[in-house]
Amino acid sequence: MVFYFTGTGNSLYAARQLESEPVSIPQVMRGTQREFTAESIGIISPIYGHELPPMVKDFLRESTFNTDYFYIIVTYGARHGGAAEMAKALCDECGVRVDYINTLHMADNWLPAFDTDEERALDKRIPEQLAAITAGVKARKHGISPVTDADRTAHQQYLANVSGVPEALWQNFVVVTERCVGCGVCTRVCPADCMKLEDGRAVHIPGNCQDCLACAHACPQKAIALAMPEKNPNARYRNEHVTLQDLIAANGKA
Ligand SMILES: Cc1cc2nc3c(=O)[nH]c(=O)nc-3n(C[C@H](O)[C@H](O)[C@H](O)COP(=O)(O)O)c2cc1C
Repeated sequence: MVFYFTGTGNSLYAARQLESEPVSIPQVMRGTQREFTAESIGIISPIYGHELPPMVKDFLRESTFNTDYFYIIVTYGARHGGAAEMAKALCDECGVRVDYINTLHMADNWLPAFDTDEERALDKRIPEQLAAITAGVKARKHGISPVTDADRTAHQQYLANVSGVPEALWQNFVVVTERCVGCGVCTRVCPADCMKLEDGRAVHIPGNCQDCLACAHACPQKAIALAMPEKNPNARYRNEHVTLQDLIAANGKA
């Protein structure tokens, strides 16, 4: 059994390499079932600020996993900042025994710092990384991927940098512009039901926003901007192996 969270498809693509029909965490979180039993259970998720997204943390906190082998693969774009260690600490806090944690370097979809057109063109040796990860999971590998002092320092620096950012900014991070034509794609790719249509236009509802940027990346009009400058406001990203329909099935309300 493989669970995943995704904004732009990287983690869904990786999850599919581990199991043909992985289970969407947003869909699970819309329901009530929180106990899962399988021979092997994995979670594939992006990291945000080196940590798991809030919804994935809640999923871990609320769930019981009955399994012989539990693992987490975090996808990231530039710097994992010791994410494996922090995911392990979270599992310990939640009473979840975790056997294996690894990181997977993919395209970075964080628009304030990265031009996703450039990211798409980089060769991050994803097939090789995925082959090693799937072989590791198949062989029931144990351990967490190495974390250095430089990673830990990077995370502390990140925390210092964002310490002055008000929570309200993260909850109002996406801005619907006048280019919106009310097509509703954003409402269907949002994993947290934070977009709705009002008078033929998309409206962002703060409160449960995961900052995954699914809405901004998927908007066909590029009508969703950010509340801070972007590296390239014209660049938008979706993993090349994942369709818009896949993202809607993953994140949208049934
Ligand atoms: C809010 C946010 C924060 C991010 N923080 C990091 C980070 O700290 N380090 C990093 O390397 N990538 C970071 N990224 C990039 C994503 O982790 C990466 O692109 C991931 O593979 C996206 O997965 P997805 O396509 O399944 O959504 C961040 C992306 C977002 C949207």
